[in-house]
Amino acid sequence: NHRAFIFDLDGVIVDTAKFHFLAWRKLANDLGFDFTQEQNEQLKGVSRVESLNKILTWGNMKLTEEEFNRQMALKNENYLSYVDKMEEDEILPGVPKVLNFLKEKNIPIALGSASKNARTILKKINLYNTFDAIVDGTDVSKAKPDPEVFLIAAERLHAKPENCVVFEDSLAGVEAANIGKMISIGIGEKQVLHEADFVFPDFTKIEIDFIEKLLRKEEE
Ligand code: BG6
Ligand code: MG
Repeated sequence: NHRAFIFDLDGVIVDTAKFHFLAWRKLANDLGFDFTQEQNEQLKGVSRVESLNKILTWGNMKLTEEEFNRQMALKNENYLSYVDKMEEDEILPGVPKVLNFLKEKNIPIALGSASKNARTILKKINLYNTFDAIVDGTDVSKAKPDPEVFLIAAERLHAKPENCVVFEDSLAGVEAANIGKMISIGIGEKQVLHEADFVFPDFTKIEIDFIEKLLRKEEE
């Protein structure tokens, strides 16, 4: 069996986490309350429905089902207004280097994202044809930290979960990778992502040497 790599999208390949934050915050503000950057960490990697549930708890609010759905649609509309302006140069520094290396070596790679907008974003940044498999919010029924999204990705890459390496910026996503018995690489702050097997502040700090070591380890 062979190594395979799975990339989260939001906060790993592109900094859409900031757009999600802006859009959720506007929703909260329109409903008459606010939430902090720290609380926002809990929204990363989490599905749209789960995110709104959390935010409403913070604001001590309950919405009818109809209003809940309307607010989700408004949030997404607002979020997409930012996404619409995205181009290839929004790919985070250091990411192309790692992607190109894996492609050159013919290592299977997948996208594993909770977002229903993943395909739209990949097209915007010209990475739609880069991945051997794309698993997104339209393919899964269980949100991270459930490992479903990564397990489907592993299956589509014909790789054993133990041989998969997952790049994640969210705690929920790191937990999902760990529960799925995969190697988890956190992208972000060590304090937040302490459960990850490795943590890097961003992709510029990931040397090709490190990726090569991960590949060799599997051969041992
Ligand atoms: C995750 C993001 O990748 O996707 C979350 O980290 C987001 O912030 C979730 O809520 C769902 O995304 P979308 O685009 O379907 O609303
Ligand atoms: Mg993410």
